[in-house]
Amino acid sequence: MKTSVEARKKESYKIFDQIAPTYDSLNHILSMGIDIRWRKKLARELPNKKNLIVLDLATGTGDVALHLAKEPKIKKITGLDLSKKMIEIGKEKVLKKNYENKVSLQIGDGMDLPIEDNSVDVVTLSFGIRNFSDPFKGLQEIYRVLKPGGRVLIMEFSIPKNKLVRESYFFYFRKLLPWIGNKVSGHKDAYTYLNQTVESFPYGKEFLSLMNQAKIGKLKAIPLTFGIATLYRGDKPL
Ligand SMILES: C[S@@+](CC[C@H](N)C(=O)[O-])C[C@H]1O[C@@H](n2cnc3c(N)ncnc32)[C@H](O)[C@@H]1O
Repeated sequence: MKTSVEARKKESYKIFDQIAPTYDSLNHILSMGIDIRWRKKLARELPNKKNLIVLDLATGTGDVALHLAKEPKIKKITGLDLSKKMIEIGKEKVLKKNYENKVSLQIGDGMDLPIEDNSVDVVTLSFGIRNFSDPFKGLQEIYRVLKPGGRVLIMEFSIPKNKLVRESYFFYFRKLLPWIGNKVSGHKDAYTYLNQTVESFPYGKEFLSLMNQAKIGKLKAIPLTFGIATLYRGDKPL
């Protein structure tokens, strides 16, 4: 099971190409709107500086980039994703919300960034790194493009500590979510795969250790909604 999940990660963007048309609406339904609260939390962890240059990796349809665009302290946001279809939908949203001067979405690989060294103030990555075939390579690339003192904010699913919450979470993630997701998206198993990537991905201290190995410092893990997701924060040392 694990091997096939790992093998599929190499081309996970193809799955996102297929589910792109229903991605946004399913995201809001399946997260019951909690995703909006989580994006607000992420925005609160931005550094207190002006004219921030932000890179949003695995931007998908650009929801994080568009949420951050409201922040006056951000000058420019570039969103990168490997899925052409997700980017196409994201670009339409950028135009509709009149953010084309502040937000630019492009096709790009989070493990091989078309970005100069030491050029970005903040990297954000929401619910994307578990889809990278080599998450450590992604973290090394984040370290490379961040300016010294720059910040990385990564949101990802995690497993809740509380037994009762964990049991309900497993029921939801293993049974209900894949069933609704596959049915509405019309994909045979995209949402089953998404759930498998969650359960096989390092979280908490294990993920912080991976960030530490990528030389990212001042590490902090902020649990979101009983720990069903975690916001990881770190800075590139000066
Ligand atoms: C679950 S979606 C998250 C989208 C968005 N960040 C959000 O919070 O809604 C994961 C995204 O990761 C993208 N992805 C997977 N591997 C990637 C890679 N190596 N580089 C860039 N994007 C990648 C997929 O195409 C997909 O759009």
